[in-house]
Amino acid sequence: MQAIIERLLQPKAWPTIMWAVVMAGLTFLLHLLTTRPSLSHAVPKLWKPDDLPILGAWRFYSHRQEMYYDAQTSTDTGNFSFFIGKKHVVGVSGPEGRKTFFDTKDLVLHDGFSALFAGFPEQSAGDGENFNRFFKMCLNSLFKSESLNKKIDLLANDAQRMCEALAVAPVSDSHPDWRVMNPFDSMYRLVYQLTTRTIGASEIAEDPELFNRTLSIFEQFESRTSVLKLFLPWLPTPNFIIRMYSGARLYKTFLDIIKSREKSGKRVDDAFQHIIDTGASTSDVISFEIASLFAGLVNSGIHASYIPLYCADNPEWKAKVQAEVDGVVAKYRSTPDQSPAMVLSSLSVEQWDNEFPLIDLTLRESIRIGQPGCGFRKNNGPRDIPIGSTGEVIPRGSYAAYLFNDVHLDPNIYTDSQKFDPTRYFHDRAEDRKMSHTYVGWGSGRHPCVGMRFAKLEMVLSSAYFFAMFEFEPSEKDGSLRTEPVPPVDAKLHQVRKPDDPIFIRYKPRAY
Ligand code: HEM
Ligand SMILES: *[C@@H]1O[C@H](CO)[C@@H](O)[C@H](O)[C@H]1NC(C)=O
Ligand SMILES: *[C@@H]1O[C@H](CO)[C@@H](O)[C@H](O)[C@H]1NC(C)=O
Repeated sequence: MQAIIERLLQPKAWPTIMWAVVMAGLTFLLHLLTTRPSLSHAVPKLWKPDDLPILGAWRFYSHRQEMYYDAQTSTDTGNFSFFIGKKHVVGVSGPEGRKTFFDTKDLVLHDGFSALFAGFPEQSAGDGENFNRFFKMCLNSLFKSESLNKKIDLLANDAQRMCEALAVAPVSDSHPDWRVMNPFDSMYRLVYQLTTRTIGASEIAEDPELFNRTLSIFEQFESRTSVLKLFLPWLPTPNFIIRMYSGARLYKTFLDIIKSREKSGKRVDDAFQHIIDTGASTSDVISFEIASLFAGLVNSGIHASYIPLYCADNPEWKAKVQAEVDGVVAKYRSTPDQSPAMVLSSLSVEQWDNEFPLIDLTLRESIRIGQPGCGFRKNNGPRDIPIGSTGEVIPRGSYAAYLFNDVHLDPNIYTDSQKFDPTRYFHDRAEDRKMSHTYVGWGSGRHPCVGMRFAKLEMVLSSAYFFAMFEFEPSEKDGSLRTEPVPPVDAKLHQVRKPDDPIFIRYKPRAY
């Protein structure tokens, strides 16, 4: 035995046959790692310029929109395909591409998403149809009127408290009439607070230290996307390991909460307990928490921050929203000495749902121009899926990707499509209703967003108190007026996130 080992440790002395065996082994491994599925003739043309050996189309994660447009314009139909590692992906576009993508039953969202979206918390893989059904069922139950109305006082109070804290923040350095905020701090934190209250554990919502710690873990997931891992799934990349570790810390946090509740025997009436009481396994309960808090934070936190920024840059929209909020306050004020914040705090969920259509349009517009990235599906059905009448297909077992900007920034549908202009949704223009799947900001067809109602509630809560209490303008960090408009959301991103360079607003109490 020892002789063999010594021999092996000296490759120079290996006999030829040994070399042959090693080479054959390596070749076989390489073959395993690189062999791609064979594809039928009807597959949209393979986009070659970005097809790197083994990896495939890396640019899909570094400059997605650019690659999408390059590939799209190179084919007759506008549909094309590419590889991510060994995974075959069909990029669809145009009206019929959209229809196929959003309406076909065998195109499964969950499987496409977990295979191609970089950045999801590892610990919440929550594989399988059953978990997926459980996940949506829990969210639907937490977002019912009855559940939300039980929480609305707490939620309104959080929004009011954020504004009260803003009111006593230090004044700005160079313009002492004004205070300065970065909405991606204040609004973002508020959204996490509202989200933990509604779908999370009260231990987290009410303990500032635990609140900060879990929020920073969730933010890590966004900055630590392990794209390389999507291409080479067998490679344990550093970001992947960090995300595993972060996921494990979150898991432990929730596990500790469960244990301490069991130990104290205290009944806590919150969303977490509601999920525990479904009787699902501990691992499903915690996976639900991690996945839903993440889903609840990513988009909502960002758009809650963009709404006041866009309104600061568009004074006529700031005035419209202010007038809307003032109108609601006047309508529901019961005694003359009630402050606007007190009136807002008396609204029911249904009133929040229905009384702020203009805030809803600013959100609609913020999402339209702020949704870089793609939807993903996997063809899990028994056969190839035709893409409209092109004669092309999404093969069985392949993936499909649809770039939201393909429709949202199409100048033939949305005039001056990069511009923030919610009047485009007014009845006389109705640009978002020109044809089916023209607005896909909340999903469309078979997979509408399950969190839409709650996300909209978060937006009206965070905006209404702020607009009611403050006058505000675009600003620099030191409190001087900002003259540059808010930069457009970076189309290179595969998910909307906080801008790299912070953008500020200066504000002061409104005179009533
Ligand atoms: C402004 C905030 C939000 C935006 C813009 C947004 C957008 C979307 C979009 C575009 C889709 C469809 C994706 C596709 O077709 O591939 C979707 C699906 C989904 N969203 Fe949201 N979302 C938001 C907030 C939320 C919140 C707060 C939750 C839950 C806490 C949530 C949970 C979900 C779930 C579970 C799905 C998948 C539905 C399915 O599998 O059929 N979303 N969302
Ligand atoms: C992709 O194929 C569909 C299906 O026929 C077609 O309607 C669509 O126009 C194509 N995309 C483009 C950009 O041409
Ligand atoms: C939580 O973070 C905020 C903002 O970064 C900070 O102001 C606050 O002091 C932190 N609280 C605790 C308990 O760490």
